[in-house]
Amino acid sequence: MSDDIAVTECTRCEELCASRSRIVNGVGPEDAELLFVGEAPGENEDEQGEPFVGRSGDVLDDALRDRGLARRDVRITNCVRCRPPDNRDPTVEELANCREYLEQEIDAVDPTVVVTLGKVPSEHLLERSVAVTKEAGGLHDARIAGEARRVLVCVHPAATLYDPSQRETFGKALDEAVALIDDDGNGQSRLGEF
Ligand code: URA
Repeated sequence: MSDDIAVTECTRCEELCASRSRIVNGVGPEDAELLFVGEAPGENEDEQGEPFVGRSGDVLDDALRDRGLARRDVRITNCVRCRPPDNRDPTVEELANCREYLEQEIDAVDPTVVVTLGKVPSEHLLERSVAVTKEAGGLHDARIAGEARRVLVCVHPAATLYDPSQRETFGKALDEAVALIDDDGNGQSRLGEF
């Protein structure tokens, strides 16, 4: 992330400042067509300083590869940038504290579609309750920081590890996301096509 949108210092959340090893910023091209938004860094992400580098990240990487994409082709970030203690969900206050950074990132990347990985990011960006399994693959218009955005709901990759029946749901939602970037006619190619 360019220096102007990477968060290098933040003390907004007392508890997260105490629990984090570092701030975990988004990774990937600043003009990515697909922007994946997760919940919060876990232990591996906190250690390595990159979102989705643990088992969930492997699931995401594999699913991207199966669809002709590499991690470097997409942007990946989280609703909050610091690991919550014991991997608990971020609180409403923590989500609100970090919202400005997420909005700045969405604005800067200006993706074709924002893919929300799991309940927390789906509800955070759609600003309503979301039944993720039921709604996975659904595309919604949302206003984020005053801009019209397309948000596609997806189950969290970790869900496929706990419940293999979620693999199909996860895969179908990713298929929808990839179809959107294939269909939008902006001429960008996917990995391996050239
Ligand atoms: N889960 C998330 O939601 N985000 C990560 O970065 C890793 C796991």
